[in-house]
Amino acid sequence: MSTGTTERRPPTDERTTGTTPRGRRPLLQGNWAADFYRSAIGKKAVMAISGVVLLGYVFLHMVGNLKLYFGPEGMDEYAEWLRAFGAPAVPEMGALWGVRVLLIVAFALHIHAAVALTLMNRRARPQGYRASRDYVSVTYAARTMRWSGVIVALFVIYHLLHFTTGTVHPDFVEGSVYHNVVVGFQQWPVALFYIAANLLLGLHIYHGAWSMFQSVGWNSPRFNGWRRGFSRAFAGVIVLGNVSFPIAVMTGVVS
Ligand code: HEM
Repeated sequence: MSTGTTERRPPTDERTTGTTPRGRRPLLQGNWAADFYRSAIGKKAVMAISGVVLLGYVFLHMVGNLKLYFGPEGMDEYAEWLRAFGAPAVPEMGALWGVRVLLIVAFALHIHAAVALTLMNRRARPQGYRASRDYVSVTYAARTMRWSGVIVALFVIYHLLHFTTGTVHPDFVEGSVYHNVVVGFQQWPVALFYIAANLLLGLHIYHGAWSMFQSVGWNSPRFNGWRRGFSRAFAGVIVLGNVSFPIAVMTGVVS
């Protein structure tokens, strides 16, 4: 059904390949990577690859943080090892900075592709679909991804100011990671915020992993059960590990 609006819908080739109707390439002509990224498929691929990098980090970070249950020496030695990792082949903190740069690039690409895809979908969406049930369920997942993504991004900024720079920490001691975590979570509003943010992160990871399989074409009735099971299990393990830390401190299991 048409609503009679004059909104411009990009022609099919512009939406899928990034070229204009007559094959003109507006920017960076001949640069296949830029051309690919201009298409919806390219943006989805960038979201999937950067998502895998971020998922890998979040999983390994959670596993590393389990050292909290091994006492102050275990946790602080592990943090020290992370700083020295790769030395003497690379300068101290060199490997850590390599990982940090990779994470920053992945984070920036993930957010850029998400915003660009949202704008692209909004421009391409025919008004008449608004009444269809499919549309409602698709945007429910997409909307959840958007606000959970924004809150997780804000959480990461707070988290870096809390445990990495100590800017918003009540008693930050450089190098005493165990102390910083325990004192940090003894403030129950902070602990509750971590729990809430990690539950949202779980939702984001679940939908994200599910859509990632879709982007790489693993979308058939044969795979969908496995896909859902994997996405749930992966998100569940990360959430359980991460929420256990503030809960362990609040209940005195870790002190
Ligand atoms: C309750 C769960 C979490 C705890 C207890 C925790 C703990 C920590 C601690 C103690 C540090 C500082 C490490 C050091 O200075 O050696 C840190 C750094 C960091 N955390 Fe977490 N974290 C949690 C969840 C998360 C989540 C969910 C994310 C991402 C979504 C995340 C991302 C980071 C990043 C990017 C850094 C900076 C790493 C670096 O550059 O050195 N953390 N975390």
